[in-house]
Amino acid sequence: MSIISIFPTDRVFVLTGAGISAESGLPTFRAEDGLWVGRKVEDICTPEALARDPEKVWLFYADRRADGLKAQPNPAHKALAELEAKIGDRFFLCTQNIDTLHEAAGSKRIVHMHGRLDRARCERECGRPPVEDMTIYKSLSEVPRCPCGGRLRPHIVFFGEIPLEMERIEAEIARATLMIVIGTSGNVYPAAGFVNWARANKARTVYVGPEPPLNANVFTQYVEGKAGQVLPGIFEVR
Ligand code: APR
Repeated sequence: MSIISIFPTDRVFVLTGAGISAESGLPTFRAEDGLWVGRKVEDICTPEALARDPEKVWLFYADRRADGLKAQPNPAHKALAELEAKIGDRFFLCTQNIDTLHEAAGSKRIVHMHGRLDRARCERECGRPPVEDMTIYKSLSEVPRCPCGGRLRPHIVFFGEIPLEMERIEAEIARATLMIVIGTSGNVYPAAGFVNWARANKARTVYVGPEPPLNANVFTQYVEGKAGQVLPGIFEVR
């Protein structure tokens, strides 16, 4: 069985992708039965798609919300929350996922770099903060307006938009001595490049997942397996 040792001087940066939620029943993007199979990203997940056909975009995220409401955290989410409970602010979690299963498992020090399924914000970027919204809209006419008059849009980072909280993420990577990447295929930047930044700072880098990601050669350790099966018991806090 693989072990990931965590020493008293370590600061741990974890990056998760859709694979960590797969065992909770949420589909990944690029698997054979993934969300991007049979759909065009540019029809759903771009600012242009939102401008052209906002109902199509909202209906896609309504389905994601319906799936998300049914899902429960799995042993992988729980193992990360337990690690954080042990090492406190030496732990930082950056997820590309828009589901909130990490929070449901108890994670606290977390950023959602690609946004959150349970938030919406003004499509005009009028400056008002995102609002809580987990409504499963069935048509565009149900989607509320911001006080400024703009329609709400999902609080999701589309392709071509800048991921959220990048300054905080960069600062956390800069001080991390151990980066653990779980369940992401290495297709989408900047997240796929984080491991290179960590390596440039001489951090140890571990990938956890059932198959090697595109950037597998940059990792110093590869733990092969499903996250929910291999993460429980893998952390040895010294
Ligand atoms: N445990 C760990 N990893 C798994 C599991 C599992 N049980 N099941 C699948 N995986 C791995 C796959 O091997 C694959 O490498 O999860 C990865 C999922 O890859 P993608 O579907 O490409 O998802 P992700 O990398 O998170 O996508 C990145 O793309 O469209 C966007 O914005 C979306 O945040 C997303 C981004």
